[in-house]
Amino acid sequence: MIFRQLFDPESSTYTYLLADSQSRQAVIVDPVREHARRDLGLLAELELKLVHILETHVHADHVTGASALKKISGAQTGVSQHCGASGFDQLLDDGDVLAFGGQSMLVISTPGHTPGSSCFLWHDRLITGDTLLIGGCGRTDFQQGDAGTLYDSITRRLFTLPDDTLVYPGHDYRGRRVSTIAEEKATNPRLAGKTRNQFIEIMANLDLPMPGKIGEAVSANLLGGNVDG
Ligand SMILES: [Fe+2]
Repeated sequence: MIFRQLFDPESSTYTYLLADSQSRQAVIVDPVREHARRDLGLLAELELKLVHILETHVHADHVTGASALKKISGAQTGVSQHCGASGFDQLLDDGDVLAFGGQSMLVISTPGHTPGSSCFLWHDRLITGDTLLIGGCGRTDFQQGDAGTLYDSITRRLFTLPDDTLVYPGHDYRGRRVSTIAEEKATNPRLAGKTRNQFIEIMANLDLPMPGKIGEAVSANLLGGNVDG
């Protein structure tokens, strides 16, 4: 079992590399365009063959590296069918199982941050994108976000997983890398002990600035990063 957590300091995005140590087949989740060379270098160094390039959702704060990685590796790109995206090889839905070598990863649909947000469960670890962050969650004030739907996704789908499931988020702005379902249930200030209505109230009053790259990022990511052909 091979697992790497990679970081983009500009957008505080985490990219994940997962691989089957026997067949050397690999999956990358949420690559960032500016780090395609780094990611390809790591794949070569570890002697891995990339077979899936996945997005947890259509990102608003960075452009995906999917197109650049696909050009070199020939891997299949995938994103939720509920994103309204085109230019991907696979459109995923809840319950889909992605195989790589002897490994398989489960797709869990978790709408709320965006309608097509998904989490990926592999062994004891959950890649949550922006659905569940360490001590937080993705915002719901653009990209057809919906706070009540996000609350339902987190509490009904993620908080029902085993307590010791590792939570690997799509971002962290304070240098934290991993949490657990038990820790988020107990300490996440937006969710611990909060009703659905209280959560909706919190999310309605975050007053966050728009991401600097939102225009460029969303339009490019809806095309799988295929902005230059
Ligand atoms: Fe996001």
